[in-house]
Amino acid sequence: MNRTFVMCKPDAVERGLVGEIVARFERKGLTLVAAELKTADRALAEAHYDEHRDKPFFGELVDFLTRSPVLAMVVEGPADNTFSICRTLIGKTSVDDAQPGSIRGDFATTTNENLVHGSDSHESAHREIDLWFPNL
Ligand code: RTP
Ligand code: MG
Repeated sequence: MNRTFVMCKPDAVERGLVGEIVARFERKGLTLVAAELKTADRALAEAHYDEHRDKPFFGELVDFLTRSPVLAMVVEGPADNTFSICRTLIGKTSVDDAQPGSIRGDFATTTNENLVHGSDSHESAHREIDLWFPNL
């Protein structure tokens, strides 16, 4: 699938970095096909991060994702590697590994508040697009 799910997390909206972040995907040559600013309730945040349900940081992760609005997006590219391109633009999960030039590397100082989410596989992209944009 040449579409993936990308989200500016609450810290990105709070810090006024949404324009900067969206611009990076657009400059790369990817296209926004859906976008919605919304506050996730706990059920949505828990479903989104279902794979992390048993991790010690799950409660904090859900608290963070629900504390203020996120910008949920569907991003499209020319080939079936869109999720992978987006993950590269976003940068590594750990603040210690995120390289300058990536969104997290340039703007994040903690692993917990790392500004952007991107689906990590074709399966996740399908699941997350259906979850956040059931009418798409
Ligand atoms: P995301 O799902 O938000 O795009 O992040 P990711 O794929 O890069 O990382 P993932 O493993 O899916 O983890 C989801 C979010 O949980 C927080 N995290 N904390 N304390 C920890 O060891 C730890 N590990 C992950 C991060 O905020 C990460 O984005
Ligand atoms: Mg993830």
